[in-house]
Amino acid sequence: MNDAILKVEGLGVRFGALAAVHDVSFEAQRGQITSVIGPNGAGKSSLFNLISGAIQPSAGRVLFQGLDLTGASPQRMLGAGLARSFQITNLFFELSVRENLRLAAQVLEAGRGLFRPVSRSRVAAARVQELLAQFGLESRADALAGYLSHGEQRRLEIATALASRPQLLLLDEPTQGMSHADTRETENLIRSLAGEQLSILLVEHDVDLVMDLSDHVVVMHQGQKLAEGPPRQVRENAAVQAAYFGEHREAAHA
Ligand SMILES: Nc1ncnc2c1ncn2[C@@H]1O[C@H](COP(=O)(O)OP(=O)(O)OP(=O)(O)O)[C@@H](O)[C@H]1O
Ligand SMILES: [Mg+2]
Repeated sequence: MNDAILKVEGLGVRFGALAAVHDVSFEAQRGQITSVIGPNGAGKSSLFNLISGAIQPSAGRVLFQGLDLTGASPQRMLGAGLARSFQITNLFFELSVRENLRLAAQVLEAGRGLFRPVSRSRVAAARVQELLAQFGLESRADALAGYLSHGEQRRLEIATALASRPQLLLLDEPTQGMSHADTRETENLIRSLAGEQLSILLVEHDVDLVMDLSDHVVVMHQGQKLAEGPPRQVRENAAVQAAYFGEHREAAHA
């Protein structure tokens, strides 16, 4: 059954002479976890930035729920239901956990500033409470984000990305720099979030995490799509073995 929430068609971007992403096409199905993997410099973050509108493509289209969002601003993407969490943390460290969530939940309020209706403001406040509970951050609600552990910060970041109730969540290396225990916890969290209401597109370096978690895997190599399919099929693909797992072994032995 094909129910694509996201379609990427012939997407590409050049940085000077370098084709960081070249002619990449794939679909992410509704309710599924789709992952993009590839070695360092494969173009994963660039692809992520193209999809989320952070950088403009030099070719191709991004279709979200049938809507052409190619190169749209992050605000417009968020309005359409596509949210992203960054590889580099995007929290306000000098604000509390609650304040970070409150700012993110403001998208749920139609009017902003002093004159927004109180009822709308209550909707956002209720959303903040919901997220604190869902992400196990209630006891840390008044702590400054800068004082959270690395694992808690990543959790808060995912929570802020979900504040506006998006239908698709883009995550770039959510477990980067995490301890083994935090990685496991994040893996379980991502699994628990995915469902009919929320599809997930994950960009990730950690092959084991991706293979455990994903319904569909897209492999990038030197800016291009090398293969795609269910995790097991992708893992057994000879070209993927050579380009990705082969390089992995060499790197480990270097
Ligand atoms: N803004 C930029 N200007 C110039 N070159 C860039 C820019 N961003 C990325 N690149 C280059 O594009 C290529 C792809 O980089 P990208 O960050 O997309 O890879 P990646 O797969 O996310 O790598 P990593 O696993 O290290 O996160 C690399 O050669 C990188 O140096
Ligand atoms: Mg990257």
